[in-house]
Amino acid sequence: MSVHQQIKRVTTHVLQEMKLRGDKIAMITAYDYSIARILDSTEIDVVLVGDSASNVMAGYETTLPITLDQMIYHGASVVRGISRALVIVDMPFGTYQGNSKEALQSAIRIMKETGAGGVKLEGGEEIVESVERILSAGIPVMGHLGLTPQSIHKFGTYVVRAKEEAEADKLMHDAQLLQETGCFSIVLEKIPATLASRVTESIKIPTIGIGAGPQCDGQVLVLHDMLGITQDFSPRFLRRYHNLFEEIKGAVTVYINDVKKLDFPNEKEQY
Ligand code: KIV
Repeated sequence: MSVHQQIKRVTTHVLQEMKLRGDKIAMITAYDYSIARILDSTEIDVVLVGDSASNVMAGYETTLPITLDQMIYHGASVVRGISRALVIVDMPFGTYQGNSKEALQSAIRIMKETGAGGVKLEGGEEIVESVERILSAGIPVMGHLGLTPQSIHKFGTYVVRAKEEAEADKLMHDAQLLQETGCFSIVLEKIPATLASRVTESIKIPTIGIGAGPQCDGQVLVLHDMLGITQDFSPRFLRRYHNLFEEIKGAVTVYINDVKKLDFPNEKEQY
């Protein structure tokens, strides 16, 4: 029996053990209680309250506008629905870069007000001071390297990162640094599969890939993308497991027709 089938609550230590045993880690995003309840009925290992909520929930073009208060609202809603998985909350743009004291305060607010099991920050060497300070308060930190959407205005596009040697070398170095600093895991987003494989082999903590090939220790997808609720985002790495956009549209269309033709509510559906 694999580790994740035996445990009642996934912790960072469980993830570490899964890497050692070669058990793959499954992570997915959630932003609200009702979805969290559904996820809690599965054997999902990690639920990420991603700042992709900025796109998926709020309709912004980037992840930059979402605030700490909004992330805390989403985080607390998800935590109330999860009893088994490890819940990680993204620290939003502007709450940890360049000021480690503010980073610690933001992380403490997330932990106190959501009940999550840790936080995720984007970046390598540039944010190590913040990571150190957050860790010093006993807060588990997940790193995030490769395509880091909070830096989209620096990159200019969402294309694959670290294809060139210099950027790949920096990423390898950043991964080592995040491990040495004490991160318990690192998300690798949209980088060549060969590089993700090298990173995964070179560090002891688990890597979680998104568009980073099959050799990562785990995978993560944005729930609304893999369920086909979002329609206008289809990168090569995205596998769609459903077309909920069409299913929801179909159900709502039938409901509208039922109302219009006085078929709903019927005799049994009234008091
Ligand atoms: O915000 C998010 O959903 C993420 C994942 C894409 C890893 O950071």
